[in-house]
Amino acid sequence: MNKKISFVIGFIALSLGLSGYVSAQQTYTSFTPGKIWKDDKGVHINAHGGGIVAYKGVYYWFGEHKIEGEIGNTAQVGVHCYSSKDLYNWKDEGIALPVSNDLTSDIAKGCILERPKVVYNKKTKKFVMWFHLELLGKGYAAARSGVAVADRPTGPYTFIKSYRPNPGKMPFYAAGTDVKDMVNCQQPANESDGFFCRDFPGGQMARDMTVFVDDDGKAYHVFSSEENLTLHLAELTPDYLGHTGKFIRIYVGHQTEAPALFKKNGTYYMIGSGCTGWAPNAARWFKASSIWGPWNYMGNPCQGEGANITFGGQSTHVLPAPGKKGEFIFMADKWAPKNAIDGRYLWLPVKFENDKISINWADEWDLSVFKK
Ligand code: DGJ
Repeated sequence: MNKKISFVIGFIALSLGLSGYVSAQQTYTSFTPGKIWKDDKGVHINAHGGGIVAYKGVYYWFGEHKIEGEIGNTAQVGVHCYSSKDLYNWKDEGIALPVSNDLTSDIAKGCILERPKVVYNKKTKKFVMWFHLELLGKGYAAARSGVAVADRPTGPYTFIKSYRPNPGKMPFYAAGTDVKDMVNCQQPANESDGFFCRDFPGGQMARDMTVFVDDDGKAYHVFSSEENLTLHLAELTPDYLGHTGKFIRIYVGHQTEAPALFKKNGTYYMIGSGCTGWAPNAARWFKASSIWGPWNYMGNPCQGEGANITFGGQSTHVLPAPGKKGEFIFMADKWAPKNAIDGRYLWLPVKFENDKISINWADEWDLSVFKK
């Protein structure tokens, strides 16, 4: 073939190939809550009940990898990781923590592994992942926390152990705690019958959860305990791989799930939900001037149509907005329990007014809503 012709054919083929490649990889410049959100491979992001850790200018999003159908609500694959520099466009980094094919493993394929959260430990230089774990075939009875560790943000993560936190420990009550929050501390006849705040030898029940790292490097694990009736906020050991035994109870007896914690100007904020399975309910928020409380219940942060059901979602994480000090993004899941893989993500800006927060629906928005 004549050199000139082959060059022209090559050029046309390359352009066609490139344009196909570019159109498969949609570039996002905004958030569209509730819509399909594709990764760099053109696949809907699969990171439900997730959280985000920032490391060296890159954001890493970890969440439950779900599969099609109702079975997708159980862990058939593991924890999926994505990375991004701008929060709009996400690269598939693969499965950071796979479930195990060994059916005797705590994280055996088919177990329930929910709400994974990764934090970075500056001292040990390790990435630590905590998650809610239910043992294979036991429904939601185990109520355990699992922990895994990695040298790199994307993993692979090595599973270490799972257990109920703080065995043999009684809660701590900060000065100023409402006496109402000290009730329900009776010993049930059998540990397995009870969910009251005792120093259970087998530890405290732990389901929906998050992990928060404070400015001083101390980390805290917040989880729905006492048969989902009451939140516990518990201190983690300096390596973040265990619990110290110090914990408080928050909003006793009010069934708070889906906790997400953040801090602004020295004040601690937490957003959570009620407890209605996969169905959405009204969000709730709390404020405290010390991590140890007292945590004050502040009502529903959502406003406008759909506020009574968190716009169809349930909180999972609150992310500091990149380069916008004091601004935050509320992250929620819109679950699809009948076809778990189709769950959607609702990201919305958090608004602050006189130390009060509010969240409003937006069909589409971008980071320019944050002024600074
Ligand atoms: C609500 C929790 O927030 C979810 O993580 C999940 O555990 C569902 N309940 C299960 O019904």
